[in-house]
Amino acid sequence: MTVTIVGAQLGDEGKGGIVDVYGDAADIVVRYQGGDNAGHTVVHEGDEYKLSLVPSGAVRGKIGVLGNGCVVNPETLFDELSALRERGLDPDVRVARRAHVIMPYHRVLDGIEEEMKRESDDEIGTTGRGIGPTYEDKAGRRGIRVGDLLTPDVLRDRLERVVPEKRAVVEDVFGVDVETLDDPDALDTDAMYEHARAYGERLAGQTVNAGQFIADARDDGKQVMFEGAQGTIIDIDHGNYPYVTSSNPTAGGAAVGSGVSPGVVGEGTTLGIVKGYLTRVGSGPMPTELGGVEGDTPGYDEQGSGENEELATYIREEGGEYGTVTGRPRRVGWLDMPMLRHSARVNGFTGLAINHVDVLAGLDEVRVGHSYTLDGDERLTMPATTEQWGRCEANVRSFDGWAPFDSAAVAREGYEAIPANARAYLDYVSGELETPVYCVGVGPGREETVVTEAVW
Ligand code: IMP
Repeated sequence: MTVTIVGAQLGDEGKGGIVDVYGDAADIVVRYQGGDNAGHTVVHEGDEYKLSLVPSGAVRGKIGVLGNGCVVNPETLFDELSALRERGLDPDVRVARRAHVIMPYHRVLDGIEEEMKRESDDEIGTTGRGIGPTYEDKAGRRGIRVGDLLTPDVLRDRLERVVPEKRAVVEDVFGVDVETLDDPDALDTDAMYEHARAYGERLAGQTVNAGQFIADARDDGKQVMFEGAQGTIIDIDHGNYPYVTSSNPTAGGAAVGSGVSPGVVGEGTTLGIVKGYLTRVGSGPMPTELGGVEGDTPGYDEQGSGENEELATYIREEGGEYGTVTGRPRRVGWLDMPMLRHSARVNGFTGLAINHVDVLAGLDEVRVGHSYTLDGDERLTMPATTEQWGRCEANVRSFDGWAPFDSAAVAREGYEAIPANARAYLDYVSGELETPVYCVGVGPGREETVVTEAVW
């Protein structure tokens, strides 16, 4: 049996918390894509853990696996593992030998490329972690895989080819003097070799053939959870390209990115994680946006923050909507149903987890973007091009608000204890997506989650 956790929106839906809620029965938690661009928050016994690479299950002693679809910055991994150990935990994280390594030159290139795009107002607003450049090298067949770190001759060969190429790109294409960089060693072959070899030595005891490792564990009766990072609308294929991350957070990615067959994922539960409103980090369209963020919202310079800025600020503050990795303020909007219909179809959700319902408490009215109007036609789902999506206007529906409530008491008493107006809102979402609600997040802790369905 497997459970796959997928972000239904633009990331930051509260996936870490849901992994925690349902993770007790799991023996292994597998990340199948992305890298340290993720920011998963788990609250355990009153302590908050912010993880970007280590699978969330590690907080509760589960074996973590970083699958072949991930891009791994060993430095971040070592830092996170030692921070967890300092807090008294004993994390066990295995790393796929087929996963690609984020090298220091990938981060340098991420920064320079974004800087160049910013000059023409085209930046994606990446997390700057080197994610895109690492996946580019993977697709370009010049990447360094975790397994290569363990074989010095192979590593040396690969670096001798790739590092001079990167140096030439930095100097000749972007016109940047390497010596002026914060980390000029990132473009020095010998320095990179020493650096990567040291990573290899430290990682040696924890690398695995991930697909085989998971298959063997399943044969032994172990339960596996796949933990998606980011979200469907920033999936490189199904998201709003080019304002996307460079991997597949969607459910299909769980098979490709971990080495199990699609049938293994498909016979299990696929849980879509939805935040009760919408947030976005970085650039790109957002038809239900309430108030813009400078540098991220397209057209902010001309239009300013928008008429609903106060409401956006209220929700941002109540929901703590600041990037876990970058600290950036998130753009805030109403729930976008055409987006969620697209997401439900792409992923085949068998259940929904709807988070942050407490954040909306206290508002007189809660709205959703029920459909779009594009070129005079009503649309119930997202168009396939970002240019068209940017021209969509949201047709909103209004729901009566609900008063603040005692989250822990509601979680103990169950779904019927959720205020009636909030239930009407949840029932609408579930009905539109033809998918049952499995749990409702009414606060940050696991004990503030109303669970209506067991997933295993
Ligand atoms: P990258 O993944 O750093 O290349 O960033 C590409 C886009 O994905 C940017 O718009 C980021 O803000 C967004 N992004 C990446 N990771 C996350 C995440 O964990 N949550 C929300 N947005 C993300």
